[in-house]
Amino acid sequence: MPRNPLRDGRDKRLPRIAGPCSLVIFGVTGDLARRKLMPAVYDLANRGLLPPGFALVGFARRDWDHEDFGRIVHDAVRANSRTEFREDVWERLSEGFRFVQGTFDDDAAFDQLKSTLDDLDTQRGTNGNHAFYLSIPPSAFPVVCEQLQRSGLDQRSDSRWRRVVIEKPFGHDLESAIELNRIVNQVFPEDSVFRIDHYLGKETVQNILALRFANQLFDPIWNSHYVDHVQITMAEDIGLGGRAGYYDGIGAARDVIQNHLMQLLALIAMEEPVSFQPRELQAEKIKVLSAVRNILPHSENTARGQYGPGWQGSEEVVGLLEEEGFSKDSTTETYAAIAVEVDSRRWAGVPFYLRTGKRLGRRVTEIALVFKRAPHLPFDQTMTDELGQNALVIRIQPDEGVTLRFGSKVPGSGMEVRDVNMDFSYGQAFTESSPEAYERLILDVLLGEPSLFPVNDEVELSWKILDPVLDEWAKSGRPDEYPAGGWGPASADEMMNRTGRSWRRP
Ligand code: BG6
Repeated sequence: MPRNPLRDGRDKRLPRIAGPCSLVIFGVTGDLARRKLMPAVYDLANRGLLPPGFALVGFARRDWDHEDFGRIVHDAVRANSRTEFREDVWERLSEGFRFVQGTFDDDAAFDQLKSTLDDLDTQRGTNGNHAFYLSIPPSAFPVVCEQLQRSGLDQRSDSRWRRVVIEKPFGHDLESAIELNRIVNQVFPEDSVFRIDHYLGKETVQNILALRFANQLFDPIWNSHYVDHVQITMAEDIGLGGRAGYYDGIGAARDVIQNHLMQLLALIAMEEPVSFQPRELQAEKIKVLSAVRNILPHSENTARGQYGPGWQGSEEVVGLLEEEGFSKDSTTETYAAIAVEVDSRRWAGVPFYLRTGKRLGRRVTEIALVFKRAPHLPFDQTMTDELGQNALVIRIQPDEGVTLRFGSKVPGSGMEVRDVNMDFSYGQAFTESSPEAYERLILDVLLGEPSLFPVNDEVELSWKILDPVLDEWAKSGRPDEYPAGGWGPASADEMMNRTGRSWRRP
């Protein structure tokens, strides 16, 4: 059967350039804006993906003027952009920079924002299209949404769009997530809400879809007949110094499992979507998340820990309780592991282990499908002593790529079988470097392309999975301590060992 070459009349290999618009960043003085958002805007401009009619508007309390704001963006771009700095690109881009000073409860500041955006429509030709990026704590979402509504900035029409971009955490639990979604949806309908989960903007995460659905090789073994279990790991070596304000009371499960790891789980476990239209993709992810079930009892199938002092490489580091800003009796977990199953024909009985932690041995995010052992080995046992289980490992970062582990004969006159790796590495296979996740996601917001943004239902279903675990933990005292630089608490190893399995040491 010939395939339809262009389903929607567009060659998807070609990049799309955003149409005229302005991007307003609330929380422009924050860390995320400086490290990721402003550099990503510059990188997009440098790649020619922003239109001449583009404006970047900062909104914050600081007593800055437009020039001060320009300097701040300049410093952020010089320090953190991915692509080379080009004076001509910068000149053109910075002509569209504006700053509005004010607090979120200040009506006059929002009126000022409105008139600034109206002026930009005429001066820069931004055409009344505005994206509002809320890089601010969720507790401030209601007041900002209300102000955008009061000042008429939420008013869209057929010829001009208004979109809101929100950053996690999307709530603290299911109940608060429902409430947050209600508040945001009162002002912005669901198709104008873009929830950022930056993992979905990563090339290697999008490659999961290519690996699974562009190849014939993997699908036949992508199920409970062949897969013993799946390990999804997001390990970080950094500590939490400087992040107490956000992290204390939140913890690893809410920070990472509820969003990034659940999304990875959904992409690994979902069925093939009818097409890559956003609705079809979301429908498949929602089906998986609806079928996820915690393996019980929680006490044996989850683990949580908090890092104590230790060594990170050659550096001696303090434990969480000594980090600036954390309360001395904080019970916030910095390590979390949970085991779930997906109740579907494809996955029945296959455990999915999700773990994340700070101050672990290495920074690595990977997904490993660990296969069952061959049902029969026609070798003496000594020949296969060194043979592990076959594994397909998707390396999300760093050293992005895919590894297939299988047994191979060790050269020599005897017969000994040992594990070897077959490796695909992005660095070697492609000359193109990968865009930063935020470049892709900001561009998609401006294009109105929602595929890579979780919808309401996905967020709520993820909380539904996590809430019972969090409730159980809240009742069970302090997390176990683990030494910085290690691989988490002993309870995490015990959780795996009980089933005769063990965590990978990436
Ligand atoms: C964020 C978490 O979402 O992801 C952080 O809030 C974490 O705690 C970060 O450090 C990791 O992102 P990346 O892209 O470096 O893996």
